[in-house]
Amino acid sequence: MQEYREFLAKTLIDETALQNRIRELAEEINHDYAGQDLMLICILRGGVVFMVDLMRHIRVPHVMDCMAISSYGVGARASNGNVRVTYDLQNNIAGRNVLIVEDIVDSGHTISHVLEMLSTRNPKSLKVCVLLDKKERREVPVPVAYCGFEIPNAYVFGYGLDIDEYYRNLPFIGIVDLEKYKGNTE
Ligand code: IMP
Repeated sequence: MQEYREFLAKTLIDETALQNRIRELAEEINHDYAGQDLMLICILRGGVVFMVDLMRHIRVPHVMDCMAISSYGVGARASNGNVRVTYDLQNNIAGRNVLIVEDIVDSGHTISHVLEMLSTRNPKSLKVCVLLDKKERREVPVPVAYCGFEIPNAYVFGYGLDIDEYYRNLPFIGIVDLEKYKGNTE
């Protein structure tokens, strides 16, 4: 895989800004769910890093579960609305306060599909928490209860978000210069 510094156009959100905002989001969640029980649902794989950092600041009693969705074809950089569940929840969500934790909302197809599907399982409440929102790219409306940052229309990577599955580990969010990115040749 190509060294990321070769295609990093710029750092969009640095580690300190990410961690500060995540603490703020967790405080909002602590406030809104005070006295209640919560189920966090991580959307794999992009939501993992965000969810792990977020839950460390959540003080209301909570359990977690995961779900995997496939929306982008291999190598594609745009959602086509062809959304499929590849790994389903292991827990029953009926009667529970469910909070979906996702890395980014782009066209909105992924989250809208997840919301539609989970709402048929009778949760007590169902809300969405996203780290990044590319609002101008929205094709279907999505109710976002908690949003870390609104970002411009650019391909971003790091902090859970991948470029061809790599660099999810970076502690910051960077913008990809697609002219300099050579693609994954592994
Ligand atoms: P949507 O269905 O178009 O809203 O796309 C949501 C999914 O696309 C996210 O869960 C990400 O996995 C992926 N995605 C969208 N934009 C980016 C990006 O800029 N970098 C990495 N992944 C992205």
